[in-house]
Amino acid sequence: MTETNWTRTRTLVFDRDNAQTMNRIAKTVFRPIYPVIAGNAMSITGISRGRCLDLGTGPAMLAMAVAQAAPGMTVTAFDFSGDSGEIAEENIRRAGLGEQVVTAFGDVHKMPFEDGRFDLIVSRGSMFFWKDLKSAFSEVLRVLAPGGATYIGGGFGSLDLKNQVIKGMAKVDPAWDCYAKKKTGDDGHSKFEQMFAQLGCQDRYRIIDDDTGFWIILSKD
Ligand SMILES: C[S@@+](CC[C@H](N)C(=O)[O-])C[C@H]1O[C@@H](n2cnc3c(N)ncnc32)[C@H](O)[C@@H]1O
Repeated sequence: MTETNWTRTRTLVFDRDNAQTMNRIAKTVFRPIYPVIAGNAMSITGISRGRCLDLGTGPAMLAMAVAQAAPGMTVTAFDFSGDSGEIAEENIRRAGLGEQVVTAFGDVHKMPFEDGRFDLIVSRGSMFFWKDLKSAFSEVLRVLAPGGATYIGGGFGSLDLKNQVIKGMAKVDPAWDCYAKKKTGDDGHSKFEQMFAQLGCQDRYRIIDDDTGFWIILSKD
């Protein structure tokens, strides 16, 4: 059964225009958030070596920030938008990170990777668009390596950065709909609890819901 994704705050068409807009914003107003989020992901999970997967990578800014902070890590920048993939490839090439970061195309709900491939799975601002969270997280658990962990969610890395982004976006796009201004609420947490119980990993997850954003840390023994 397909479940309604209660985290969805809006629907978005992932076309070329949107991919280009995301690229522009990611390189300007959002730019400072990615190194902070990459650092948070690695310090919270304790993982900075091996293989990393960035789900819904868009212009690959988080994937590149992980690679820059962790030279011992190879990163796969994954997205179901071919337009985003082209933009990501160009950004990776320009940053000189082609040896460390590769792009891959596909849908989070059915990933083209073997079981247990990735040590660290990160994702920012994408989960809110996934159609079926339960099947997406079942896939995440499948491709996560034993001993691996996730840092999946949304946010801006810190309160200062969040305020800076909200201010910056008000100038660039006054109609911008910032999900960070909305409260996920206890109901949201209990829905995740139910979902992870159904997936049999209720003892292996925690939710961070603070000034850094809303993040799901899942681990695999
Ligand atoms: C708001 S953008 C965030 C991009 C990037 N993570 C960032 O923070 O700069 C959301 C991205 O998720 C991707 N996406 C949404 N649903 C997806 C799915 N089911 N599978 C793969 N990618 C998906 C979109 O194509 C888009 O690039």
